[in-house]
Amino acid sequence: MIGDIRETGECQLKDPMDLFRSGQVVKICAPMVRYSKLAFRTLVRKYSCDLCYTPMIVAADFVRSAKARDSEFTTNKGDHPLIVQFAAKEAQVLCDAARIVCPFADGIDLNCGCPQRIHEDLKRTVDFCQKAEAAGVSWITVHGRSIEERHQPVHYDAIKIIKQSMSIPVVANGDIKTLKDAENVHHLTEADGIMVARGLLANPAMFAGYEETPFQCIQDWVDIALEHGTPFTCFHHHLMYMMERITSKQEKKVFNVLSSTSAVLDYLNGHYGVW
Ligand SMILES: Cc1cc2nc3c(=O)[nH]c(=O)nc-3n(C[C@H](O)[C@H](O)[C@H](O)COP(=O)(O)O)c2cc1C
Repeated sequence: MIGDIRETGECQLKDPMDLFRSGQVVKICAPMVRYSKLAFRTLVRKYSCDLCYTPMIVAADFVRSAKARDSEFTTNKGDHPLIVQFAAKEAQVLCDAARIVCPFADGIDLNCGCPQRIHEDLKRTVDFCQKAEAAGVSWITVHGRSIEERHQPVHYDAIKIIKQSMSIPVVANGDIKTLKDAENVHHLTEADGIMVARGLLANPAMFAGYEETPFQCIQDWVDIALEHGTPFTCFHHHLMYMMERITSKQEKKVFNVLSSTSAVLDYLNGHYGVW
């Protein structure tokens, strides 16, 4: 439903580079397949997130199929600044996909190697980033892990070296779970922005300084998700992530197997007495 905008005929695009120019560390919601959709972006923006990415979209499918366009990309006028992430093998296909979303998006991101980001030989990563800079990208995001490294500590030192080798902004990503972590990573890397994926799934209010998901945020998610007609599985998964740290094992056993919106609302009502 790119339609939200088509219907209103309005779209207030925002230049994301203004965020980097402000000199503040830019707080960014990462691209997350299945999760960083419009409803979730609406939630994190409410809690001090400056910039959001869509989930990765396969450019070739997006260009070819109206059905893919309708299901993969939804936005509205409050959803800015917004970066649409594509996966593409051919420049022309990426251009065609970018042209379709450009009236509604503030930038395009090319996924260059999820889940790895850095090469074992750091020189090759620096070289790759400098080539991207020379090609005209506005900024670059680095997840400080190699392809083999799934759970090992993030190489913030590598991100710092990349940052020092570039003139454009660099965004640091990996294992940032709290606002304090974000500040630490900024100090360690000197990055211009901080991108978070799992930390925001667990606590969409983390950029606003909350150490764990506040109840108000859960309430906001329910309201926003229902308003957007979020499919049950997505609605429920987000709640499971958000409540992971604040519910007991026993409570999870009950909550995680609920199978309808009304059952979830009944549960929340029974436990928190709000709905
Ligand atoms: C559920 C999930 C979906 C993801 N989907 C994407 C994606 O669509 N595109 C992408 O480039 N990275 C994707 N990633 C990787 C994240 O953007 C991020 O680089 C990685 O999770 C490390 O950040 P974190 O430690 O804050 O989670 C995904 C990660 C998760 C957990």
